[in-house]
Amino acid sequence: MEDPGKFRKNVRQVFKLMYLMFFGFMLIAGFLVYLMVDPSLSVFNKNDPNNYESIQKHDEVDFDKIENGVHVRTGLVEGDGLMLVVNNCTSCHSAKLVTQNRMSKEQWSATIRWMQETQNLWDLGKNEEPIVTYLATYYAPEKEGRRQNLQNIEWYDLKE
Ligand code: HEC
Repeated sequence: MEDPGKFRKNVRQVFKLMYLMFFGFMLIAGFLVYLMVDPSLSVFNKNDPNNYESIQKHDEVDFDKIENGVHVRTGLVEGDGLMLVVNNCTSCHSAKLVTQNRMSKEQWSATIRWMQETQNLWDLGKNEEPIVTYLATYYAPEKEGRRQNLQNIEWYDLKE
């Protein structure tokens, strides 16, 4: 039988080792979990596009950026009333629904009326006039519209 003092010492050492391994595992596990959330370790790099500060700065500067006469976030054309349209017309559906349409003033008003009656669009109040003016100015029916129908075409039959 070995000396009990030495045995106790060995046990203590084993426990110490287990503690170390336990905390080591915890550290590694914590780091791995963190890696799942932020694989590029963006906290340490201010220029990383995922870095929180960088995101905030980016948003402040770019949120309503206008580039080449187009409001980048929505694709709407720059003009009087743009922000009214951005704020009132892009919360329920994409701005594409607006930008892909071409209508006269009356038709835009009617569309707004229709949304108010059936889609819970709110009363636009005194903003309605500038909104409709904006829409009818920048999203007016195009004069030529689609290309003309082809004429005088000699169609040929496809052979089998
Ligand atoms: C309260 C929600 C809401 C708001 C705000 C809203 N719309 Fe709509 N709008 C709708 C819904 C719902 C539809 C139907 C979408 C669909 O068919 O997928 C729609 C459809 C449309 C359409 C297509 C109509 C058609 O005939 O297909 C246009 C154009 C349109 N909206 C323009 C606007 C404009 C301009 C504004 C701002 C004045 C606006 N919307 C604000 C809910 C809204």
